[in-house]
Amino acid sequence: MKTWPYPAVVAHRGGGKLAPENTLEAIDVGARFGHKMIEFDAKLSADNVVFLLHDDNVDRTSNGHGAAKSMSYAQLSSLDAGSWFGQEFADARMPTLTQVHARCDALGMMANIEIKPCPGREKETGTLVAREAWSGALLSSFSYEALEAARDEAPTINRGMLYEHVPDDWRAQTAALSCVSLHADHRDLNERLVKEIKGAGLRILAYTVNEPERAQLLAQWGVDAICTDRIDIIGADFFA
Ligand code: G3P
Ligand code: MG
Repeated sequence: MKTWPYPAVVAHRGGGKLAPENTLEAIDVGARFGHKMIEFDAKLSADNVVFLLHDDNVDRTSNGHGAAKSMSYAQLSSLDAGSWFGQEFADARMPTLTQVHARCDALGMMANIEIKPCPGREKETGTLVAREAWSGALLSSFSYEALEAARDEAPTINRGMLYEHVPDDWRAQTAALSCVSLHADHRDLNERLVKEIKGAGLRILAYTVNEPERAQLLAQWGVDAICTDRIDIIGADFFA
């Protein structure tokens, strides 16, 4: 089994549903609830700055409009990425990965950096995210191409292949990418599959688990970590 220095609970998008996702403020909220690890989504601006955003466009989580891939970071960082969630977060911005790294270091927070490329930018996103990632971080992606580029750029940083539906060839894919872990939608997992994945020497991170009973069941099956929006009811010491 691969070395796995990560806690069993990971706060989704920084602060789950309690803060505007993928912002420094969300990381602070995750820390305030006692969490030791966060997940967030990283992509490239038009001028190749690695920054945090989940969607391909900025509309849902900011006061701007349009595709992130055609905006410079100067444009992106001028947008309000907090008011959509609550007026008290009006100062929140889409942070750079560099800023996020500094905040994680300051808070002693571990990170699962999900490489979430804008369409057509898979390879360069994998490369540039991995170049800025730090030892101790866990890289993951739904994009095989992005994770492959990350492996080539920073082979010593841990990787986990991320699946909405675990494909039949998960063994070959995770082996080719020398993954330490397989990350899956928890609804796609069952006891037998968990056993097979663990039997292959991989760790498992399940997302997005918001029901405590489900979290307990997954842990009972052998899932190593869950990523949750309910950072209030599934605390850092939930499995302690
Ligand atoms: O990395 C786990 C999870 O964040 C994947 O789904 O859409 O929330 O990025 P999504
Ligand atoms: Mg994500």
